[in-house]
Amino acid sequence: MITVSPANDVVGAFIDGVQVASCSNEELSIIRQAYADHAVVFFRDQELTPDEHIGFAKRWSRINVNRFFTPVETHPVIAEVCKESDQTQNIGQEWHTDHSYDQVPAMGSMLYAREIPPIGGDTLFASQYAAYEALSDGLKKTLHDLKAWHSSRHAFGVNAPMANGEGTLFSNPEAATQDALHPVVIRHPLSGRPALYVNPDFTLHFDGWTPEESAPLMQQLWGHAVSDDFTYRFRWDVGSMAIWDNRALQHRALNDYHGHRRLMHRITLEGEPLEAFTD
Ligand code: SIN
Repeated sequence: MITVSPANDVVGAFIDGVQVASCSNEELSIIRQAYADHAVVFFRDQELTPDEHIGFAKRWSRINVNRFFTPVETHPVIAEVCKESDQTQNIGQEWHTDHSYDQVPAMGSMLYAREIPPIGGDTLFASQYAAYEALSDGLKKTLHDLKAWHSSRHAFGVNAPMANGEGTLFSNPEAATQDALHPVVIRHPLSGRPALYVNPDFTLHFDGWTPEESAPLMQQLWGHAVSDDFTYRFRWDVGSMAIWDNRALQHRALNDYHGHRRLMHRITLEGEPLEAFTD
């Protein structure tokens, strides 16, 4: 029988007793409700071919093909998130929100573990509902009126350190032309709850403020948003899967397993434009 158990009081839930590749519509409704309630859901021991991964993703939404990640050769709508044993950088080592540089940011991501180092390579998730809630009323009010610019240029563009160094991590630097403007506090499209929406990987500065003027408050928010109090650390095994909601959390892939290979398959799910939270 399918069961849902919260990972902690703030973010994440484990779902047991189901294989996502063959789940019924009723089981899918339970999974989707848990995803809405907990922002990220974790599964163990999933047996999933690339075709089944794609089939499951399509039951959620259209697939948003990431233009910078290396595609799986046989199934190009799946992105390969891989660090080879001789590489020193990994993908996603900074706290971030997938695709916040898009005008219509991705709803979520489905990450499936195919090869895992013997130790290390965990992923951290931070609730941006909890981060918002913990702010003072005064700062909340100030942030309601603000928007911020997000960009892919500095992360994936021709001058990005990762594009020029270990070139196999990312491709298509010439496609990194997007800048996108989003509210700093969004009304979550599923829950209607306010969530903080700035991240250190892709957010540049507040709209109408210079980068210099923005830096003190932006850095304060970035630090606050990923406090231990708002996070859960997930340990992967081969066959684990996580499905997270990019509008409700940030995540970070730890880079603490040098000398070992880690191979994940990611499908990114199409989202919708984000609205400001106003009370
Ligand atoms: C990502 O940011 O999508 C990668 C997360 C991970 O590899 O754990």
